[in-house]
Amino acid sequence: MKEDLENKNTTTVGLNEQERTAIDHEVSLVPYPKAACIEALKIVQNNRGWISDEALSAIALYLNMSAAELDSVATFYNLIFRKPVGQHIILLCDSISCWVMGYRVLYNELNKQLNIQFGETSPDGMFTLLPNACLGCCDHAPAMLIDDDLYRDIKPNELESILKKYN
Ligand code: FES
Repeated sequence: MKEDLENKNTTTVGLNEQERTAIDHEVSLVPYPKAACIEALKIVQNNRGWISDEALSAIALYLNMSAAELDSVATFYNLIFRKPVGQHIILLCDSISCWVMGYRVLYNELNKQLNIQFGETSPDGMFTLLPNACLGCCDHAPAMLIDDDLYRDIKPNELESILKKYN
């Protein structure tokens, strides 16, 4: 029983061995542990999907920094998720070129098809919709990223078939 509890504490609440090994590698590349905090957050997020308060505290402890300090880093980066997200992340560019080229129409269409606004996850847990600054393809606006897939020159009537690929 005690052993079960210890296992739970090191795998669910704390950092597991795989996470610690990956973080140790990142720490070895920088002058001091705290400098690896963004990479550490990404490692744990890749493993768990998001950064819970418990995960944040475990990372902070491991890197010898306060949870508040790490939380300020985590909340600064919009790609570090501090609450559960859907299976797929949609990053819709809302910067100037995409704005001019019809971002708002795409946004409204995504609202309609997924029944969510920015910062929300679809009721089926499939998609989380987030705004994103320039995706680096302004000459092919409007653009959006779903997970690692970049979509450019998007027409509103293409959205349905794009989303179907992820269902
Ligand atoms: S403004 Fe949208 S890709 Fe640059």
